[in-house]
Amino acid sequence: MALAGEMQQKTGAPKPAARAFKPLEMPELEYTPGLAREMAPLYEKVKHVIPSIEWPFFAPYIHAINRLKKERGAVVLAHNYQTPEIFHCVSDIAGDSLQLAKEAAKVDADVIVQCGVHFMAETSKLLNPEKTVLIPDVKAGCSLADSITGADVRLLRKKFPGVPVVTYVNTSAEVKAESDICCTSSNALQVVESFGTDRVLCIPDEFLAKNIAKQTSVKILTWKGHCEVHERFTAEELRQYRRDDPNIVIIAHPECPPEVVEEADFSGSTSGMINWVKEHQPKRVVMVTECSMSDNVAVENPNVEFVRPCNLCPHMKRISLKNILESLVYMREEVTVDPAVAVRARAAVERMINLGN
Ligand code: 13P
Ligand code: SF4
Repeated sequence: MALAGEMQQKTGAPKPAARAFKPLEMPELEYTPGLAREMAPLYEKVKHVIPSIEWPFFAPYIHAINRLKKERGAVVLAHNYQTPEIFHCVSDIAGDSLQLAKEAAKVDADVIVQCGVHFMAETSKLLNPEKTVLIPDVKAGCSLADSITGADVRLLRKKFPGVPVVTYVNTSAEVKAESDICCTSSNALQVVESFGTDRVLCIPDEFLAKNIAKQTSVKILTWKGHCEVHERFTAEELRQYRRDDPNIVIIAHPECPPEVVEEADFSGSTSGMINWVKEHQPKRVVMVTECSMSDNVAVENPNVEFVRPCNLCPHMKRISLKNILESLVYMREEVTVDPAVAVRARAAVERMINLGN
């Protein structure tokens, strides 16, 4: 993905006509007694995960963002890994990658502010070519998306002619454009089996592919891409949790290495994990994934104790209340995709969404 100017340089394609949005005035960010009163019910909801010392700093930003969203006709999409002040206080729609892609296809707003990483903003743009999609920090990348290029996929197709190519949604539009269909961690098995072939290329996440391979007779060929957050968990770490507390419940994301997922009691997408906790209400649980998620889930599950291995995604953490507000004030950073790439990448994402429907 590239910013409009970079894309023009790379492709020589004309820059899409930018919509004329005037910058707004940066709001006053003062924590007055009136603001404290107005924001008190919201703080009540998040007080278990946002320390009271931090609230006077967050509250003026939250207030300003929620006001400017209306002024701009904007909607804020937030991934489950965003911090609680974003996830619970400014997002309109929150979810896992699949939910965000589906919701992005339906949004009825002129402007989308994507609180997540680059490939997510790019997916929103693919599904909403006529809308303005903003990402508060254009450097919010992803180690999986960075692990493979469109040229790599073309080489794989030459090496394995006729084998369908499934790409994880954590990839650039250029890579999506080279694939037959996308998948996310919540539908990968269904997508892989949808071809009825005996072999499928499932790229670029090696661990997701191997975890799926255990659940199907389809032979899965993969790539050596890894999530830099989930690859750090070890099976020994999980066994240690169980030695410390034999009653502990462990749930893991399928981007973790297979031996880690094997040690877990349940594995699923970020929303799959959230729903599992809501439904099962374990007394103590470890969520083996990015650590902001436990804070977000804790707000709605006060009777569950979360043991929090704190592996942070440095890319997700680039998004802050400050740069979300700046996005709305200055309308930056706008995400664009070369139309020739977009048309093919969109088809791969839409095939995935239609399969679910
Ligand atoms: P989910 O699709 O489970 O939300 O996970 C994607 C991911 O790893 C985002 O970083
Ligand atoms: Fe990418 Fe991993 Fe961060 Fe998700 S958690 S954005 S897969 S690096």
